[in-house]
Amino acid sequence: MKNNNTQYRLLIPAILFLASTGPASAATTDAEPLQLRKIMQSLSADMQIVVDATAMEDWPRAEQAAARIADHPTPPMSEKVRILSFMGSKMAGFKAHDDKTHDAASALKQAAHQQDGVRVIEQFARLQNTCLSCHQNYRASFQQHFYGAAGAAAESQAKMGAR
Ligand code: HEC
Repeated sequence: MKNNNTQYRLLIPAILFLASTGPASAATTDAEPLQLRKIMQSLSADMQIVVDATAMEDWPRAEQAAARIADHPTPPMSEKVRILSFMGSKMAGFKAHDDKTHDAASALKQAAHQQDGVRVIEQFARLQNTCLSCHQNYRASFQQHFYGAAGAAAESQAKMGAR
């Protein structure tokens, strides 16, 4: 029984890798995905909306998406406590990254409000840099901690397959 389970778990990353189903990689470990991950997915969806809205010069739509990014929800209290206890003294740095994302999204929202396409694109790039910077600094250790090493490896494999 236990062996079957282990085999099964080893199979899933391989299947995911072959099928290239990026976001479904949450299924690679027993650990429940963090609510944070869902929040991240909606940030990503809103970034996509900004790209599409910019192409259409649909500034109100870009503004609304930027506003959702700027005011994104936070995980429930119980999860915040788990994150806090994992981050410890690094929490201030993590929070600072989040603040930068918030500020850049607010500037993007403002540029869209003013229908200033060039600035929308500039602020979009700035915003995207804030996302990247937090991911480069924290994502791997987060995933290692909350999903285990195998989960983190499978995740990046699935992502590579998806490209
Ligand atoms: C304060 C840090 C921080 C900022 C800022 C941040 N992220 Fe994340 N992001 C994370 C962490 C940590 C994870 C890993 C979460 C997990 O795997 O459960 C993550 C994961 C993701 C994922 C992968 C979700 C999945 O299904 O595996 C996406 C997409 C994402 N972020 C998009 C964004 C976008 C877009 C922005 C900027 C608008 C952003 N993030 C800003 C910390 C951050």
